[in-house]
Amino acid sequence: MCGIVGVVGNRNATDILMQGLEKLEYRGYDSAGIFVTNAQHQSKLVKSVGRIEDLRQKLGIDIAGTAGIGHTRWATHGKPSIENAHPQTSTSGRFVLVHNGVIENFKEIQDRYLKNDRFIGQTDTEIAVHLIAKFAEEDEKMPVLDAFKKALDIIEGSYAFALMDAEDPETIYVAKNKSPLLLGLGDGYNMVCSDAMAMIRETSEFMEIHDKELVVLKKNSAMITDYAGNPVTRDSYRAELDLSDIGKGTYPYYMLKEIDEQPSVMRQLIQRYTDADGAVNVSDAIVRAVQEADRIYIIAAGTSYNAGFGAKMMLEALTQTPVELGLASEWGYGMPILSERPLFIFLSQSGETADSRQVLVQVNELGYPSLTVTNVPGSTLSREASYTLLIGAGPEIAVASTKAYTGQIATLAFLAKAVGETDGLQAASDFDLVKELSVVAQSIEASLSEKDKIAKIVQNRLLTTRSAFYIGRKQDYYVSMEAALKLKEISYVQCEGFAAGELKHGTISLIEKGVPVIAVLSDPLLASHTRGNLMEVAARGASTITIAVEAVANPGDDIIVTNVHPWLSAIAMIVPTQLIAYETSLQRGLDVDKPRNLAKAVTVE
Ligand code: AGP
Ligand code: GLU
Repeated sequence: MCGIVGVVGNRNATDILMQGLEKLEYRGYDSAGIFVTNAQHQSKLVKSVGRIEDLRQKLGIDIAGTAGIGHTRWATHGKPSIENAHPQTSTSGRFVLVHNGVIENFKEIQDRYLKNDRFIGQTDTEIAVHLIAKFAEEDEKMPVLDAFKKALDIIEGSYAFALMDAEDPETIYVAKNKSPLLLGLGDGYNMVCSDAMAMIRETSEFMEIHDKELVVLKKNSAMITDYAGNPVTRDSYRAELDLSDIGKGTYPYYMLKEIDEQPSVMRQLIQRYTDADGAVNVSDAIVRAVQEADRIYIIAAGTSYNAGFGAKMMLEALTQTPVELGLASEWGYGMPILSERPLFIFLSQSGETADSRQVLVQVNELGYPSLTVTNVPGSTLSREASYTLLIGAGPEIAVASTKAYTGQIATLAFLAKAVGETDGLQAASDFDLVKELSVVAQSIEASLSEKDKIAKIVQNRLLTTRSAFYIGRKQDYYVSMEAALKLKEISYVQCEGFAAGELKHGTISLIEKGVPVIAVLSDPLLASHTRGNLMEVAARGASTITIAVEAVANPGDDIIVTNVHPWLSAIAMIVPTQLIAYETSLQRGLDVDKPRNLAKAVTVE
């Protein structure tokens, strides 16, 4: 969470920081700030509560600066306020720090080292900058780098830090542990940033920073060392990102653009995972890793966790291996008894989710193989797992994940098919994935053409409700979980995705007049049972809505989805629910892309 950007060199620092923060805003957006300075030691520190636009209003015409650091915050310690916004400064104002993460021992540090300091806000970050300042200022001969290192030896927790010394406008000190941070290398200037997207306008040359590494960044150099001072040599790489990918174009919101991109994501995945003859092409090593496993553990959070469920049935059928799902935020604190030969699959759009990473670190310690399925090449989870499969859906900016969910399921379909074919499974050769995904792409397109109808359903049935339910059985239950998350996340409707048959075991008591209950109906064997549950809630006053595939549709169903292969039904069925969430948020006048209290990449535990 939170976005960091820094730049030093022959460029207009204020402009670069502001552009960068705008691109990073999706990571956290409750407050923001920048510090810029120049060779004449003129500097300015501007902070604001709210969005980057609010910060821009406060900038005024001032120095452009040749170096600076900026931050957009997702508060963990202390409310969003000017005092708590970053950059945080030392008492003298000499040291200026931006931070992403959580310092776990901040209280102990305060009690032990900083008893007499006065603090302006409540952040853990303020403690860190005071600690660095204490070491640098109590021994004038101590270089800033050493003071920083001394503080880092004490600080525990997760952090991406960019530090400046107002007396030295030519250097940014950088360190990281568990939180994402990346260098961008330019001609006569260098940058540091939470992700590549915020630097792509300035450079396409990047360099990774690993945990517990320090960087001294100057306009013509980036010196990386470990905390013991040993130099690290690392090659830079060029990013595949395209600047046009990260604009909204003519769309009012990124979420709508990303929903609309899903048919092309399906088609691009066909390109990515098939060869010239149309045969499925997934790396042999990954296929072997699945074949060797006696159980697949899918670890993920939020929408990615729901995507794991969406793919479970197909994966089990084609790999003939049991698939177990694990919530990363639970498994990080203890795993169940594992099978003898587990394979861990990490599903993550960002590849940076701290909860998932926490599990991966343990998996690596235990020596088990792992595969990351992610949208972000070079992300932490990708780097640290044994194998990676890319979704290639293009940057997903809206906080509500859409194309990553459908892209993840489709990517797992290629894996499942490749394993099944290698195993000589009849069901795998019968499953014409290229054809079926093309059918899915068409089905999505058909659902996308129903936007007006969905807008009306929302207007009439969901606009003012406080709560709602999605219900379904089996695969449709999994879709219901994701549909409910989407609605909650951006429209603030309290919504549960529920196994239809479970309603009568307790939850049906919540049904009262007008509560929308939306049924997901794709399974010919189960649809009639779920319709039965709809009758039960309708009898108690619920306002029922149906989303049905053609094969099970009845006259009077509200939304019809064209038929797709049952293994891919989660992809097709989710699309109308994404549109329902989008419309509900839009019609309620909310910020669709940046819902309250949330951030895109959840990089704190
Ligand atoms: C999705 O709409 C959410 N914003 C969230 O649940 C997200 O899916 C989750 O935080 C996992 O993120 P990841 O896929 O980047 O790991
Ligand atoms: N823990 C810090 C704070 O609350 C940083 C939060 C963030 O990552 O944005 O200010």
